[in-house]
Amino acid sequence: MSERLVAPSLLAADFANMQRDIEMVNQSRADWFHLDVMDGVFVPNISFGMPVIKSMAEHTQKTLDVHLMIVEPDRYIKTFAELGSDNLTVHIEACNHLHRTVHAIHEEDMKAGVALNPHTSVNLLEDIIQDIDLVCVMSVNPGFGGQSFIENTYKKVSNLKNLIEKKNSQALIEIDGGVSTTNAKKLVEAGADVLVAGSFVFGSEDPTATISALKDEIS
Ligand code: DX5
Ligand code: ZN
Repeated sequence: MSERLVAPSLLAADFANMQRDIEMVNQSRADWFHLDVMDGVFVPNISFGMPVIKSMAEHTQKTLDVHLMIVEPDRYIKTFAELGSDNLTVHIEACNHLHRTVHAIHEEDMKAGVALNPHTSVNLLEDIIQDIDLVCVMSVNPGFGGQSFIENTYKKVSNLKNLIEKKNSQALIEIDGGVSTTNAKKLVEAGADVLVAGSFVFGSEDPTATISALKDEIS
């Protein structure tokens, strides 16, 4: 079995001390940086814009995992490639031509991720799962950090795992929202490969130790 990964979400970091928080993640056992981009249209919140993302991307030393919660994400694929994104995840609910979007991401040499809102069935991935590298299962409604984990996620993850195996896909399963050491183990047992954690990490007294605790929980 391949290593399970932890991806701290910078949405919960201290924006006035961003360099300190990014450096903390660089030095920690975290595997990926998860960057949440919100446009105030697809989700009812705005996170950070391009100048801020550019500075963040310059300092991150681990895999840069960008989660676009925006409408018409195709407009920004090239920009995120130029910023050094390794993974670019778009929402299925925001894409009319998902197949085209996924291939446009691959053309820019990034891994292509597809995120599903809590109400969206994994069955919708049946005809695209072989083309994608990552499925981001939202375990909260996207838009804000610090929300409660939706329990139906476990069932969804095991359904998705079955679909991935049935179709011989290499896609990783990422869980985003309300992740902590309370649910981490159960999530990987259901089939998760990558756990995103925002407030659980940055809201703790010792974020480095919290990242380590999450890693230990899923190793
Ligand atoms: C929510 C974002 C998440 C968020 C997770 O829309 O996609 O990545 O930062 O935050 P927590 O871990 O606090 O739920
Ligand atoms: Zn996210």
